[in-house]
Amino acid sequence: MRPHEALAAFLEGELAEVNRLIRVRMSSEHAPRIPEVTAHLVEAGGKRLRPMLTLAAARLCGYGGGYHIHLAATVEFIHTATLLHDDVVDESTQRRGRPTANLLWDNKSSVLVGDYLFARSFQLMTETGNMRVLGILSDASATIAEGEVLQLTAAQDLATGEETYLKVVRGKTAALFAAACEVGGVIAGAEEAQVRALRDYGDALGIAFQIADDLLDYRGGAATGKNIGDDFRERKLTLPLIKAVARADGEERAFWERVIEKGCQQEGDLDHALALLTRHGALEATRRDALDWAARARAALAPLPEHPLRDMLGDIADYVVARFA
Ligand code: IPE
Ligand code: IPE
Ligand code: MG
Ligand code: MG
Repeated sequence: MRPHEALAAFLEGELAEVNRLIRVRMSSEHAPRIPEVTAHLVEAGGKRLRPMLTLAAARLCGYGGGYHIHLAATVEFIHTATLLHDDVVDESTQRRGRPTANLLWDNKSSVLVGDYLFARSFQLMTETGNMRVLGILSDASATIAEGEVLQLTAAQDLATGEETYLKVVRGKTAALFAAACEVGGVIAGAEEAQVRALRDYGDALGIAFQIADDLLDYRGGAATGKNIGDDFRERKLTLPLIKAVARADGEERAFWERVIEKGCQQEGDLDHALALLTRHGALEATRRDALDWAARARAALAPLPEHPLRDMLGDIADYVVARFA
């Protein structure tokens, strides 16, 4: 059993409750387009990684109540809302192995249903009555949007370096991973050192996850349910590309200027880009960075109580970077 499956099995009953709550809250009596779009995305599955983090964190910290279910559903709603918006921004055509909502319906539906899910996520979390978790999840929502906007302005700019990339990734991806973990600890009333540990774990895990995802965009590997080469076509400065551009000679630099800055792409360019990434060891170096962040995530768990869930969270860190193995 792979680590995320082991975690899902351990949390089976609670995860079923989360899925039930998601189904109930994703629909709308007033606008039939909403259940159409949400059902399309939600029925396609998704790994439910973030809600599992919330459930695991709460249980690991000894939580005996029921609000971790609400928080886990909140986190998945925020995630799903950002995916709807992200696929519009990225003009993506595939998500979770299915055509994207923007392709099946249109951009307008994706933007508006995304807004609806965001709003629903806020309704869900207020039901916990816990001001601190509201603060954490609303901060994360703002940070995700900042990350996406920063990425927008960094795209197509060959001057983008690893520092900017890290800022983007921390914002658009790690913020929600960190919040998902942190709110589990907070709702459980865990000690501050443990809440901090959960947050640090989520942050490093999210970074490892996104770096691996950006690697997958070039390398493929285990089925991702998404297209290969999307980032290249979108002219995004992700880590593999940043590393290859930093090592480019004059001729290679001219190639990157044409395909990334000018956006003048022809058939065969993706293959040539892949050859350059390989020549400079950029994919390998990116993989090493992802492994480093995964190791940091694992190490962050040290202050947490000894528990099978703590070991499982450690294994999840390995899993997120091993997805392309
Ligand atoms: C996709 O996240 C968005 C990124 C941060 C790369 P996931 O790969 O967790 O998406 P699902 O929910 O399993 O489809
Ligand atoms: C993930 O970003 C979306 C968010 C975290 C908001 P990407 O655009 O890199 O991810 P995919 O490739 O579409 O899943
Ligand atoms: Mg995208
Ligand atoms: Mg994107």
